[in-house]
Order: sequence, then C-alpha cells, then structure tokens
Amino acid sequence: MKVLVTGGCGFLGSHVCEFFRKEGWEVVSYDSMTKYELGRTGYGTEKTRDFNWNELKGMGCEMVKADVCDEQAMKDHSSGCDFLIHTAAQPAMTISWEDPRLDFNTNVLGTFNVLDAGRQHKIPVVNTSSIHVYGNHINETLTEGATAYERNPVAIGEDESVMVGQISPLHASKMAAEHYVRTFTDMLNTNAASFRFTGIYGPRQFGGEDHGWVANFAIRSVFELPLRIFGTGKQTRDIIFGSDGAQAYLDYFKNPVPGVYNIGGGPDHKISLIECINLIGEILGRKPEVEMHEERPGDMRYFICDISAANKAFGFKPQISPRQGVEKLLQWIESNKEVFQINN
Ligand SMILES: NC(=O)c1ccc[n+]([C@@H]2O[C@H](COP(=O)([O-])OP(=O)(O)OC[C@H]3O[C@@H](n4cnc5c(N)ncnc54)[C@H](O)[C@@H]3O)[C@@H](O)[C@H]2O)c1
Repeated sequence: MKVLVTGGCGFLGSHVCEFFRKEGWEVVSYDSMTKYELGRTGYGTEKTRDFNWNELKGMGCEMVKADVCDEQAMKDHSSGCDFLIHTAAQPAMTISWEDPRLDFNTNVLGTFNVLDAGRQHKIPVVNTSSIHVYGNHINETLTEGATAYERNPVAIGEDESVMVGQISPLHASKMAAEHYVRTFTDMLNTNAASFRFTGIYGPRQFGGEDHGWVANFAIRSVFELPLRIFGTGKQTRDIIFGSDGAQAYLDYFKNPVPGVYNIGGGPDHKISLIECINLIGEILGRKPEVEMHEERPGDMRYFICDISAANKAFGFKPQISPRQGVEKLLQWIESNKEVFQINN
C-alpha cells in the first residue's frame, strides 16, 4: 500500500508519515518546505526547517519538495498511490490576516488540487480541517476561581453552528476547503472526508505563539524563557497527541465513510493553558515564568470535541493522555536542544 502525505514535513504530517511507515506502507512526503510560521517562533533555523525532512528520509519515506498549488506535480506524484492525506496548510490565524492571499492559495486552491488528484486516481482523500470552522463563540462560561473555561454540555459535535463570531481568513479558507470536500463527495464521485482537528501536540512540533501552543510552552519552559499568555490563560482544549491523530487516518482508510469528523482527545483530554503550564512545571520540577497579555481577536476560548461520530464510523479512539504526551514532548525537546537556536 502506498500513501501520499501533503505537508509531510510539517508537525502532523511527519507523524502521519511515521505512523504509516511503521504499518509497512510506502510513504511519499510531499511538502513545499515553506514553513512561514517557523520564522516567527524566535528559534527557526535551517536545522529546525530541515529536521522533519531528515527524520522522514531516515525512516525510508520518499521525499518530494513540491507545492500543493502545482496541479500537475500533485497529480503526477500521487499516481500509483492508494490513499491521499492532506495536511499541508497555512495553519496560523495571525498569518492569515497578514497575508490572506497566501492563506487562500494554500488552503483553498491547494485542497482543491489534492481532491482533484484523488478524483482522477480514484483513491480516497482525507482533508485536515480544524475546529476553527466553528468560529470563536461557543457560549463558554467562567466560574470564579476556576482554572478553565467550562461549557454545558462539555463536548461539541459536528452539528454545532459553524463560522460564529468574528471570522478571519483562516476560518474562511478552512471552511471553503470543507465545502469542496463535500462537493467532490456529492457530485464528483470521490471518497473524501474532512477531519476537524482540535489542538495537536507532540515531538517534532516547532510550535510558536502563532501555532502549536503546547509545544511553544514546552520549548520555552525547557529553555527557561518567559511564556506569554494572551487572555485569561483559561482557554480550554481537548488536546490530541500526534500519533493518535495519525491513527485516525488509517482508521478512516479501513472504514472510509465520507463526512466531517471532529478529531480530538475528547472530554478526558481537557486542559486549559494554565493547567498545561502547571503540568509542564510539575514534570520539569520548576515553575515556568508567565507574562499576561491582552486577548487576541479570533482566539477561541473553549473547544472540546465530541468524538463519537469518528468512533462510530471508523473506530477512532485516542490513546495518549495529556500527561503522557507532554512528558514525551518534553523528553524530545530535552534530547534535541541543539536544534533550537534561541534568540529571545
Ligand atoms: N497543530 C495543530 O494544533 C492543529 C490544530 C487543528 C488543525 N490543524 C491542521 O493540521 C494541519 C497540519 O498542521 P501542522 O500543525 O502540522 O502545521 P505545520 O505548519 O507544522 O505543517 C504544514 C506543512 O505544510 C507545508 N506546506 C505549506 N504550504 C504548502 C504548500 N503550498 N504546498 C506543500 N506544502 C506546504 C509546510 O511546509 C509544513 O511543513 C493543517 O491543516 C492545520 O490547519 C493543526
């Protein structure tokens, strides 16, 4: 079996590539290596940029440097594959409002090209979407003294209203991509699904303030740099570990029921920013220094996925608890310290 993973050298894509290699698949990592957000983390260097590429090469993946906006390259490199997993993206909200055209091209045109390649080769496609499509107003509440936003019911299903509140270009491009997934399924004879991911974290994540908050906190804590929180710090997510996210794609391949699915850790993996920082401090044995800043527009205060639809359709069930996952992430940072060039 052979799979092409767009964005293979990204954080999630690298876990998908590794996971499928371990399952004995041939894996093509297809990535433009642009990584715009990396330059803004404060530790982005050639070493960090190439880290995942070198790791995947070492695992025996076929490495392709190409753009999802290149229709022909997309079609050619996916020829002979059995499955197409699309994780390439412009994933950062901040970049989406600074460069909305980049966001549109990558997330909308890019997704269209991936779907079209799947249609032409008659193979299933999974598009990686995001809980961003729900917008940023979820009717959360905050009890005095609590360390996390709350909501009743706790978990949110796929039938929740989408695009509620103030909408950024990233919200629009992720939603547009989902509409195309549905179009290819409904009218263009393609087996396709969208996975609406919650916050994902784990090794090989070069997270910064724009994207990848768990890794950002973990990296800065290891290097004893102050962490910046925007808002109350009580923003809450059901974080999911990279390999658990990767498993969802294989589960789908085995039971490919088209549709839209929330993919997250679910209520058992609920954690707020402050709780995550406390956990990191507990594991490292020292309390990270925290600076509080104004809430950013468009940031979502609460999201916990109801993952029962993905469980029912293809048996998805996350395995790694936040404590286990954060421990693995910290171990990876500690043993790869030379990769990070810390400037601030
Ligand atoms: N990390 C999270 O917490 C999170 C949460 C929800 C959804 N997601 C979604 O998961 C997906 C992967 O996110 P990630 O965190 O791994 O991001 P990432 O930035 O680590 O990886 C994205 C990869 O895509 C590549 N890429 C960008 N533009 C490209 C193009 N035009 N052609 C080919 N490759 C291109 C980049 O070089 C990068 O390696 C995205 O769709 C993102 O929206 C991520």
